[in-house]
Amino acid sequence: MLLVADDDPAVCAVCRDVAEALGLRVLEAGTTERSVETVDRERVDLVLADLRMPSGGGMALLERLKQAHPQLEVILMTGYGSVETAVEAIKRGAYDYLAKPFHLDDLRAKLQHAVKELELTSENRILREQARGQPGFGGLIGTSPKMQRIYKLILKVSQSRHPVLIVGESGTGKELVARSIHFLGPNRDKPFLPVDCAGLVPTLIESELFGYVKGAFTGAGRSKPGLLEMARGGTLFLDEIAELSPDLQAKLLRALQEKEIKPVGGTERVPIEVRVVAATNRDLDQAIRDGRFRQDLYYRLNVVTIKLPPLRERKSDIPLLVHTFLERFSDPARPVGGLSEEAMARLMNSDWPGNVRELENVIERALALGAGPVVHTVDLPSNLQSPASGASPAPPREGILPLRELEKRAILQTVEELGGDKLLAARLLGIGKTTLYRKLKEYELEA
Ligand SMILES: Nc1ncnc2c1ncn2[C@@H]1O[C@H](COP(=O)(O)OP(=O)(O)OP(=O)(O)O)[C@@H](O)[C@H]1O
Ligand SMILES: [Mg+2]
Repeated sequence: MLLVADDDPAVCAVCRDVAEALGLRVLEAGTTERSVETVDRERVDLVLADLRMPSGGGMALLERLKQAHPQLEVILMTGYGSVETAVEAIKRGAYDYLAKPFHLDDLRAKLQHAVKELELTSENRILREQARGQPGFGGLIGTSPKMQRIYKLILKVSQSRHPVLIVGESGTGKELVARSIHFLGPNRDKPFLPVDCAGLVPTLIESELFGYVKGAFTGAGRSKPGLLEMARGGTLFLDEIAELSPDLQAKLLRALQEKEIKPVGGTERVPIEVRVVAATNRDLDQAIRDGRFRQDLYYRLNVVTIKLPPLRERKSDIPLLVHTFLERFSDPARPVGGLSEEAMARLMNSDWPGNVRELENVIERALALGAGPVVHTVDLPSNLQSPASGASPAPPREGILPLRELEKRAILQTVEELGGDKLLAARLLGIGKTTLYRKLKEYELEA
């Protein structure tokens, strides 16, 4: 799908004609804001953006889009004579540029080229995932008895094709476990395909999982196989499974039972051969009791459960994790030797509500801020600087606030301070972006 971001209706009309003739679906937006909204809502693959648009312009739009949707490609339309701007745009991640006024042939050629390249993306994704598969336990770190039990379980289930459900708090490594199950198994050369059930709207998840046939909706110029079909002996990783809509829960159950799927708009059933690994940080039992998750699907997915321990239950692994992250993030030219004893004591005392992800962020931040060869207490975030405990919130100034309220304020404030940059906010808060999106959705519902 193509988005034309230009405030000139004539330009939009021309672009639409050319793009539709190439079989693309086309959306239009006249302002930067509208463009961002559209891209957040619809599955846009390509954006043709005018450099001079009201409210921000194409360059700002380019940056926002590339940050929030790195897989999306942007072609900038620039006025004649602004070659420097065009070069700058490419440097900042634009796919290509088009000098205005342009010839139709030129526009057609650039669009065609981009479309051809985008068609490769699903295959690229499979290759990329394969390249990331490492030997051992996919980068899982920890030697505590609790982790050793996890490694044994991973090894065992990796040799079978049973569905696995991975549960654990946010940041405990569920995704790493899913990867190692796949890459330690006999089908490691088959695709590992992650799907984020919280990140997309249900209709998009449906076409992602089940695929669609040519003509399924206006502009579906060709058919596209779903990930369930493309797995072909590989693993489908359903992340944040608790967020799957009731309708899709039913469809997924049926697909897993019958080992067949019907692509959107299709009549024929396609056989599937896929291993399913699902993960959630939610209490699925509670979700079932609340009627938000189907019990029959739960039984199907939960043949084996792997429950990841929170970091506070395996604190003996903290020094090793710290060491690994110091190596990972420090500048090879100026290696950081370690932590002061006091700083390490603070880390050992914290409760780590954000688990390994939070610890990873703390170390990365300390290295970014600190100057010397040793990380000191002052390089840690303020909540870790008081000896009492990292888990205690700032002293209540307006009476006691429930934790949930504190969390809500922290999230909303951070997002606001960062001008709405949710990716960065999630990073700084030490939570996953899907967790952040989900929480923001919850606050919206409350309001
Ligand atoms: N045992 C571990 N060893 C090394 N790194 C880990 C470990 N657990 C988590 N991490 C790191 O912490 C970060 C979060 O891990 P991951 O994405 O697997 O968590 P998650 O359980 O899926 O969290 P969420 O529920 O928020 O999605 C990643 O950067 C990962 O590399
Ligand atoms: Mg995750």
